[in-house]
Amino acid sequence: MKKIFLIIIWSSVAHQIVKAQTPSFPTSSNADLIKAMTLYEKARIIMGLGMDVPAFGPDKMPPDTAKPYNPVDGAAGTTYAIARLKIPAIVLADGPAGLRINPTRANEKNTYYCTAFPIGTLLASSWNPTVVKNVGNAIGNEVAFYGANVLLAPAINIHRNPLGGRNFEYYSEDPVVSGKIGAAYIMGVQKNNVGTSIKHFAANNHEANRMNIDVQMTQRTLREIYLRGFEIVVKEAKPWTLMSSYNKINGTYTSQSNDLITTILQKEWGYKGLVMTDWFAGDNGAAQMAAGNHMIMPGTKKQLDDIINAVNNGTLKIESLNENVDRVLNLIRQSQKIATLKTIRNKTQNAAVSRMAATEGMILLKNENSSLPLNKPATKIALYGNMSYRTVIGGTGSGDVNKEYSVSIADGFVKAGYQVNNDIIKAYNNHLIESDKNIKPPAMWFMPKELPQEMDIAIATLQNEAATNDVAILTIGRTSGEFEDRALSNFYLSDKEKTLVKNISDAYHAKGKKLIVLLNIGGIIEMASWQAAADAILVTWQPGQEAGHAIADIVSGKVNPSGKLATTIPVDYNDLSTANGFPGTPAAMPTSITYNEGVYVGYRYFEKATKPVVYEFGFGKSYTNFNISNIKLTNSIFKNQIGVSVTVTNTGKVAGKEVVQLYLGAPSANTDFSKPVKELKAFMKTTLLAPQQSQVIQFTISKRDLCSFNEAQSAWVADAGKYEVLIGSSSKNIAQKAAFTLPQTMVVEKVNNVLAPINNINTLKL
Ligand code: BGC
Repeated sequence: MKKIFLIIIWSSVAHQIVKAQTPSFPTSSNADLIKAMTLYEKARIIMGLGMDVPAFGPDKMPPDTAKPYNPVDGAAGTTYAIARLKIPAIVLADGPAGLRINPTRANEKNTYYCTAFPIGTLLASSWNPTVVKNVGNAIGNEVAFYGANVLLAPAINIHRNPLGGRNFEYYSEDPVVSGKIGAAYIMGVQKNNVGTSIKHFAANNHEANRMNIDVQMTQRTLREIYLRGFEIVVKEAKPWTLMSSYNKINGTYTSQSNDLITTILQKEWGYKGLVMTDWFAGDNGAAQMAAGNHMIMPGTKKQLDDIINAVNNGTLKIESLNENVDRVLNLIRQSQKIATLKTIRNKTQNAAVSRMAATEGMILLKNENSSLPLNKPATKIALYGNMSYRTVIGGTGSGDVNKEYSVSIADGFVKAGYQVNNDIIKAYNNHLIESDKNIKPPAMWFMPKELPQEMDIAIATLQNEAATNDVAILTIGRTSGEFEDRALSNFYLSDKEKTLVKNISDAYHAKGKKLIVLLNIGGIIEMASWQAAADAILVTWQPGQEAGHAIADIVSGKVNPSGKLATTIPVDYNDLSTANGFPGTPAAMPTSITYNEGVYVGYRYFEKATKPVVYEFGFGKSYTNFNISNIKLTNSIFKNQIGVSVTVTNTGKVAGKEVVQLYLGAPSANTDFSKPVKELKAFMKTTLLAPQQSQVIQFTISKRDLCSFNEAQSAWVADAGKYEVLIGSSSKNIAQKAAFTLPQTMVVEKVNNVLAPINNINTLKL
């Protein structure tokens, strides 16, 4: 009887039906509402409410913002309600690795935990838009369930340099991967009648002095690399909102740049949604309004005054303000759809989506003599490395998630049936307790906490452990987060880590046993100096709350790895085209940074400069092998488009998925116009192919895929000549080639001559 009672209580909690945020909007038209508003109300509704940040308020905030009421505690902000006109507020909350709200509330027993999903870099490494869409859908379910209306995600800035503090939230060094993965995420979230905010538009590629830095680059660099992903997302997925970034581009804050926000985004790309600022971005509210940045978040008293004064003195047209108010009203109206929903939080299902997605984006970089999978039941594992026991599941700052639980690698292995050596577990528990005593709290609670140093383990101890265990697994971990870039020391292994790798490798190899290294990282690290010591290397990334389970799924072979690098791993930091001058000048507090490398970022650079890398863009191994064959083009002369097909066959012994990557090598009409050797234009992951099973993969190459951005003509231009179609399983491993010809140069799209750099930029000549 008691049991039945408990089950009834449990199920009523698990299937608790809440009425999500239900803003009910007046029936009057936007035009009528705008007509009825005072100037103050107009200037006020285009600003939101949100964090009480001492540097900005409350005295510096509009008077009615001092004690913001947010129905979803811990959400980043709300819009401004006007009770007189019955205009409700809606709630905006972070992402991207899940919904970030406070898990508990004062004087309440209910909890408000959210599922922590894998970081952006892992999602992109899946190269699987279907899986990413499922993740988006699961996150959207929680956004709606908890009554938020817009998720402030995804974040698709480019991995320009590995030290970028928020790279973990971002996807790739390549804009096509970023765009396609971002679009999939948005389509998933927005299925739930809640919105997204694609961010940070644009060129917010590092954290140092992020609110003021001036990012300088050529128009071509901007269009081809830093805007391209946003363009794909805006055109394919129609995000409800877009967040402009903190930084300036070529001298103007992005939120104050009419060229960026109105000319490019809204006129050229046809964006119809709402543009909001990042929190406290920019320095002039009137300029933000004039630029077409519809909403200022959360807004300051100065910005409010700027706007009212500018309208009163005629420097800001009331029509511009009205247009922005109109977009805000549209967003609030659009958010009402949620009012018709009764939402259930699919907690168990969402955790399963998180686990599945985590396995999909882990990358097997090395697997000598099939060291993995460990499919013998009850394998005895000697598990080393602090992060085996305190697995990092995500980054910090606004991209953090308040989850109910997380599964460490050790726990995941035990659950999977492995025998994890108990003495080693105990030694690490003690070491971590001791280390905690010396760790200083971060400067601000939302900044990354320093990770404990690795333990010194005597060689004799390792030798004994090598005798009694079947295999050594060492986890190397990193954390990073918003507000600061990673230090160079975070990119390289520490001395203690290097010693650990070497000593474990020597001790286990002496006994004929293997060392497997797990990289529990948010951004890439140096590998050339130590990777030979490991028999297998799996990049687990920061995989969300199901970390240990997902890693065990791959290690055991329950899931065959199919992730691929969406960012190149260089031999050394100094090999990068962006190493010099990162994060800007002057180094202590950079006020500007120049992207001298032009379009040559990531693989575009390494290939053109013929510099070796450790693992190339697009690389990742599987427990099986694939063969890509039978390339066919629908035509050898390009007219409007060309279809390409290849056949992928699983030639190995276990089922698996392959990522088929299509690169294009374009001709150059002019020797001064340097183009990358090849560029990714499309990709597709196969279904799970059984041994000997084949799948035909089809792509379409469009006019725009042929183009580079020609500054002299302010146009996307496809040069006449021979185009090489290169299809493979990584940027280096090209299995099939074909070619087609474009008989005459085509101006595919003429655009506006905007955002030229103020100073002449001498881009790298390659
Ligand atoms: C971050 C944004 C975030 C916002 C609200 C800012 O500091 O840059 O990504 O959405 O805060 O939390």
